[in-house]
Amino acid sequence: MLLLACSVHGQLSSDFYQSTCPRLQRIVRSATQQAIDKDPIMGAAMLRLFFHDCFVNGCDASVLLDDTPTSVGEKGSPANFNSLRGFEVIDDIKAQVEAACPATVSCADILALAARHSVSVLRGPRWQVPLGRRDARTAASPAEAIANLPPADMEVPGLIGIFASKGLDAKDMVALSGAHTIGQTRCGVYRARIYNDKNVDPNFAAIRKNNCPPFGDDNKWTPLDLQTPTRFDNKYYRNLLGGRGILHSDQALYGGGQVDGLVKSYSANNSAFFADFALAMTKMGNISPLTGANGEIRLNCRKAN
Ligand code: HEM
Repeated sequence: MLLLACSVHGQLSSDFYQSTCPRLQRIVRSATQQAIDKDPIMGAAMLRLFFHDCFVNGCDASVLLDDTPTSVGEKGSPANFNSLRGFEVIDDIKAQVEAACPATVSCADILALAARHSVSVLRGPRWQVPLGRRDARTAASPAEAIANLPPADMEVPGLIGIFASKGLDAKDMVALSGAHTIGQTRCGVYRARIYNDKNVDPNFAAIRKNNCPPFGDDNKWTPLDLQTPTRFDNKYYRNLLGGRGILHSDQALYGGGQVDGLVKSYSANNSAFFADFALAMTKMGNISPLTGANGEIRLNCRKAN
């Protein structure tokens, strides 16, 4: 798996900082652990930040750039605003990394490592992260963020299409969707599903309605996986078999569509899910990285140097 990643993307390698920042992995691991100890939601936040970074213009930390008084970027896009979180965790890790190895490690690599360590802290799979990404000098536009990130009401063909445009196949898409085994979602995002969808378990909908009235509370968060919200496991897929997917796009993966077999197999086999998730994360981390002389090593992840 790693060999493939290295040969396709020559410049990324897991020992990229071996001589320039040997403590990198330890710093990110312990800072991620501390952030999750303080607030378990931060693990999910790191994983989603990485996804939203890689899908919009490649894994170049562009999602971390703050909007400025004169320009709104992807952070301020409706696809991200009020929804992405955990930026302060990245700031904290970056500060520790800068103290140990000044102007050496990119924010894009820190994000890749924070996502990886988050999944492992929450008892999910582990994988090696090829490194050597550099940081974008500019953020993508709000429109680019909307065009490249899948919305919660998307059906399977649309989901497959958007992942295919990033070089990821249907299997990667289904495995990566298992990230919704951790983290939260807001009432305004899943309301239509629990009030209008036909393919929803009525008991599940009734429970969810307690936390999401027909009107109002749009920004109220609730767990994506009610049973084990801070444990990375395959319950997500088991829920789909019972009509208990919280997002329309989650439930779309099961119920007569072309990826039913994958959902069934991951629901029955945690190891298969873990192996495919790890592989797909490595592939996602290879989406259009900036390398060599492109981009920069940002000193502050929120703004270009
Ligand atoms: C397959 C298409 C996907 C769709 C349509 C989708 C959509 C969403 C939506 C709508 C939310 C809740 C946001 C809110 O309510 O404000 C969410 C949360 C989340 N997503 Fe996805 N997502 C997808 C794939 C992924 C992938 C590939 C990953 C990572 C590998 C991921 C990781 C997460 C995580 C961890 C959360 C919880 C974040 C938190 O609690 O802060 N998602 N996703």
